[in-house]
Amino acid sequence: MKKTYTPRLSPRLEGIASLIPECDTLADIGCDHGYITIHALQGGMAKKAVACDIKEGPLERAKKNIEKAHLEEKAVTRLCPGLEGLKPGEADVIVIAGMGQRTIADILTQGEETAKAAKYLILQPQSEIPEMRGFLRENGYNIICNKMMREGDKYYFAMLASSTEKASDSRRGNFLTRLYEKKDIPEFDMYVHVLDDLFGLDLIYNDSEMGYYLRHVINEWETAIEKMSEAKKPDAQKIAELAAKKASANLALELNTLFCGIDKRLEALFDMDLLSKAGEDDGGTE
Ligand SMILES: C[S@@+](CC[C@H](N)C(=O)[O-])C[C@H]1O[C@@H](n2cnc3c(N)ncnc32)[C@H](O)[C@@H]1O
Repeated sequence: MKKTYTPRLSPRLEGIASLIPECDTLADIGCDHGYITIHALQGGMAKKAVACDIKEGPLERAKKNIEKAHLEEKAVTRLCPGLEGLKPGEADVIVIAGMGQRTIADILTQGEETAKAAKYLILQPQSEIPEMRGFLRENGYNIICNKMMREGDKYYFAMLASSTEKASDSRRGNFLTRLYEKKDIPEFDMYVHVLDDLFGLDLIYNDSEMGYYLRHVINEWETAIEKMSEAKKPDAQKIAELAAKKASANLALELNTLFCGIDKRLEALFDMDLLSKAGEDDGGTE
């Protein structure tokens, strides 16, 4: 039997792939090796794919891998910058991953018609994650969900966004109520945007791993504040900005523990009825 080539995905690529919904045509912009294209076709998430790259070398790599996986009939490769090689409506899912936030924002701005004609965008900026979320919010896209991936001690973030669909998450309302109790301020809506851009609200209330990331940035920002304060001429504004971010991270950590902490995981693991019955058996109830 002929052995099929299947690329092995890193945790970062696994996370991106987990966001791909069932679609007709997936466009993989900046495809490089073409792993996302191949994975989406082999997994049956996409029926067809268009793999694009601005450079010949990476596109050639994608082409070779597509051929190794015998997917030439389902995937085409195109040498083009950003979304220029795609017609509006040609792809219902567009993936742009592994590039800087500014490059991704430029691609979405220059190819706005094509980006907005797609049902979903899957974006994974390598840098400036809050700026990417802010860009989407300010340019008519809703973030349906955020995803965090970890490789060693490096964290990556991806987002599923749409210009037509809104997030429908039952936990969000409950989370906002708890946040309001904690942050009863007149600029509450503004603060929600700040927290959402910084960390992704759904990661705070859905992802127990987020606690590790938040502790990580709290330590990092704490050290940076100390260093900045020791400078000959400390930049008071920068220190205040970082201190505000650190305070938001502390609040996010508190809420993450409340929503996804060990007690919540235990509740999900054990049926609460069983726990109360155990209490009766122990003579725990009168
Ligand atoms: C680091 S690789 C990421 C590959 C893959 N998307 C991933 O996430 O593993 C970035 C790729 O994007 C391509 N690229 C950079 N800017 C681009 C642009 N404006 N349009 C299309 N491709 C671009 C590069 O040539 C490179 O192959």
